[in-house]
Amino acid sequence: MKFFIDTANLAQIKEAQALGVLDGVTTNPSLMAKEGITGKNNILKHYVDICNLVDGDVSAEVNALDYEGMVKEGEELADLHEQIVVKLPMTKEGVMAAKYFSDKGIKTNVTLVFSAGQALLAAKAGATYVSPFIGRLDDISTDGLALIEEIREIYDNYGYETQILAASVRHTMHIVNCAKIGADVMTGPLSAITGLLKHPLTDIGLAQFVADFEKGNK
Ligand code: E4P
Repeated sequence: MKFFIDTANLAQIKEAQALGVLDGVTTNPSLMAKEGITGKNNILKHYVDICNLVDGDVSAEVNALDYEGMVKEGEELADLHEQIVVKLPMTKEGVMAAKYFSDKGIKTNVTLVFSAGQALLAAKAGATYVSPFIGRLDDISTDGLALIEEIREIYDNYGYETQILAASVRHTMHIVNCAKIGADVMTGPLSAITGLLKHPLTDIGLAQFVADFEKGNK
């Protein structure tokens, strides 16, 4: 399973990259705003800065809601850097734009996916990635992981190449369970990724090894 970090924070992206397990980055307009990145030129420059920090795909979301606007904005984003993936909302216009970019060989990520039917449409349109938001489904007492299972089954039935990018991941068990189900990618915060490192028996065992080594090597 590929690991993407879901942030526009350059320090956190650097930290995840340094760990050696990072395969890409996802951003969205809210994450950009959180970092105080506003204005077209600053936003475009920030995407290039992110691409220069990591080796893999970097999802950059269009803000237009109409088809022509999505195509124009998406082309501008794709021209920025070869690592850019054009992120499009799961709307009629977004699906049409996904088909447009897929026909041109430009990678896409269809976002804000909350049902298996939406994921099926994104795959039919040739999206590179589909982003079901599991955390936001869990937030409203719905089973986010069950949606990943449904999409996995549908994509496997027909051999769709669209990659399931489990998004809105909030914690370590989301990551582990997505891996068990067979999500192709997960995108989550740095805390969820580094949380995978933690186990008290590792800490206790290491403290014992250090103590025993020091006893024997005084
Ligand atoms: C996906 O690409 C989104 O940026 C993201 O995962 C949304 O997560 P949230 O529900 O924690 O905002």
